[in-house]
Amino acid sequence: MSLLNKLVVSAMPFIPKAVVGQVAKRYIAGTALRDAVRVVKELNSMGMMTTIDLLGEDVKDAGEAHQVRDNIIPILRAIKENQLDSNMSIKPTQLGLRIDKECGYQNIRSLVDEARRLANFVRIDMEDAQTTDGTLEIYRRLRREGFTNTGVVIQAYLHRSESDVRALVKEGANVRLCKGIYNESRSIAYKGRQEIRDNFLKLLHIILEGGSYAGIATHDDYLIDGAYDLIQKLGLKPAQYEFQMLLGVRESRRDQIVRDGHRLRVYAPYGEQWYAYSTRRLKENPYMAWYITKAIFVR
Ligand code: FDA
Repeated sequence: MSLLNKLVVSAMPFIPKAVVGQVAKRYIAGTALRDAVRVVKELNSMGMMTTIDLLGEDVKDAGEAHQVRDNIIPILRAIKENQLDSNMSIKPTQLGLRIDKECGYQNIRSLVDEARRLANFVRIDMEDAQTTDGTLEIYRRLRREGFTNTGVVIQAYLHRSESDVRALVKEGANVRLCKGIYNESRSIAYKGRQEIRDNFLKLLHIILEGGSYAGIATHDDYLIDGAYDLIQKLGLKPAQYEFQMLLGVRESRRDQIVRDGHRLRVYAPYGEQWYAYSTRRLKENPYMAWYITKAIFVR
């Protein structure tokens, strides 16, 4: 990260929310469900699938977690009603995992059950490392109960991920692989850019060779090119994997992946609680300092 970007990151809490919002709007489909439906329709018409995420994380109590569950059910129904090519991504802490494991489980189960009724799929996002065991437990309990319409996320920066991936592949899991976004300690996570990339490609190899369906979630050319090589080497068909990218990021590379004949899914978040997600995205943007400065001075 450039020195200027580091400076802007440390100043972020003092930057007016309106300025952050102006710069971050490219990453968000809008604040209402109708905005998400419109954006998803557009992406579908461009040959891309999507996964919708209702923004928010870490709720304060069980009542709030139930409310989030009740707010996600209409999204699953809207996907069906509007015949969208989209599934759902959900965050366990938004559904109560950190308050009470059983509450988190029951809320997620209700969503996966409703998704199954609607012939849809729910991806359980992976959050910070304190939630990894709990999240994998929820996923496995759902599978034991017979739900096949759900999948997990593995973060390439965690040391534990290789053993998690080996076990998940044996279980026939559908795995999204990403680098990982949370600030984990050196004792449990790789920190170097290249070592995370190396582990990403190693894990992807294990997933694809083991016959599991992979969501290859990255905007990094090095990893996209590495994935192309693996796909070719293993002789995979496009139905065995998909690339995944975040809304508003690297659109020209995204379009190229589609033109190359691969399946591609765009992560489309929407909702009122856009701030935490947007600041994480801005921190990953190499031009963030420039965009923020422009938003402050050129208004
Ligand atoms: P990297 O950050 O190195 O980006 C590669 C290049 O892409 C950059 O050099 C830059 O050019 C461009 N770029 C990346 N981000 C940008 C931005 N915001 N704005 C502009 N340009 C940008 N993490 C997690 O911990 N749990 C999860 O469940 C998920 N889920 C998830 C789903 C999907 C579909 C994606 C794509 C990503 C996630 N992530 C995630 C986030 C992931 O872990 C990671 O933080 C980001 O994808 C950034 O990593 P890259 O592999 O893109 O590399």
